[in-house]
Amino acid sequence: MLAALGWIVLGLAALNGVVGLEKECRKEGMIAFTFDQGPSQYTGILLTSLAKAGVKATFHVLPDYLDNPVLSANLRRAATDGHLIGLFVKESITEASVKAYLTNASAIVKQYTNYQPQFLRFPLPGPSPGMLKVVTGLGYRVTSYNLDSQDYQALSEVTSPDGKGSVFATVKGILDQIVPPTLGSFICVQRDIVQASVQQMPAILNYTKGRGYKAVKLDECIGAGAELKAADDADDQSGTETTNDLGGDMKGQAVKSNGAPPKCAESLRLLPYACFVLATCLLL
Ligand SMILES: *[C@@H]1O[C@H](CO)[C@@H](O)[C@H](O)[C@H]1NC(C)=O
Ligand SMILES: *[C@@H]1O[C@H](CO)[C@@H](O)[C@H](O)[C@H]1NC(C)=O
Repeated sequence: MLAALGWIVLGLAALNGVVGLEKECRKEGMIAFTFDQGPSQYTGILLTSLAKAGVKATFHVLPDYLDNPVLSANLRRAATDGHLIGLFVKESITEASVKAYLTNASAIVKQYTNYQPQFLRFPLPGPSPGMLKVVTGLGYRVTSYNLDSQDYQALSEVTSPDGKGSVFATVKGILDQIVPPTLGSFICVQRDIVQASVQQMPAILNYTKGRGYKAVKLDECIGAGAELKAADDADDQSGTETTNDLGGDMKGQAVKSNGAPPKCAESLRLLPYACFVLATCLLL
């Protein structure tokens, strides 16, 4: 009995290990479009396409080139258009340097957006468990993706006049493998530094809408309301100024994105584990 409980505790610990790196949305039929490593000179065209389709997306931006007024204008517009602005963590950043990087990058982004980024994206192969622990401990949310547009292969691609090309074909090819009525749920990655990816976005938006997907920002995709509120409560206890700052902004985000009572949603999420523990105890 005790040994079994030990295994259950270990099992839960392992589950906790993967909590923190989200790869898909929590609801069937959702698709979150994410754009990494921008902004770029093409981001404005992308923002117009998104606005025409009435779609909100998520941008994981790099702080490096924002002294370029075209890029900073595009970033500012992305924020005022209501898109979610997160940060891309550069490959060179280590566990030891990540806190300083994020503080600096957040301050730079906040300067243009009046908005504290909370969502992070790491380059492949994704953050190490240690890195994930550090950044989630700082209150950030980390996502990966399960739909790779592979637009990095389209750097020199010329999009055909019908607005289609390899990026559209890759996205369509993956989604077409799912036979309706099942839609699955996706976090898609593109890079707004790739012109072909931006040019093919209207076709991608039209196609996913036609298939019945609901395009959402990452906070709605991963149901961030519950966790963000939880992080906020934890911050209230720790009382350090930076985390409080982040927590406060997160609360605003949570209210905007998710009306459900956060505590309740969080316990519902844990309900299957609780049932599993109970069932195992009863069996023994
Ligand atoms: C902050 O980030 C900018 C843009 O990447 C960089 O130029 C600057 O050196 C950084 N400052 C510090 C203190 O790290
Ligand atoms: C939009 O998608 C529909 C199918 O859902 C298709 O018939 C139509 O040609 C598409 N339009 C464009 C501009 O891609």
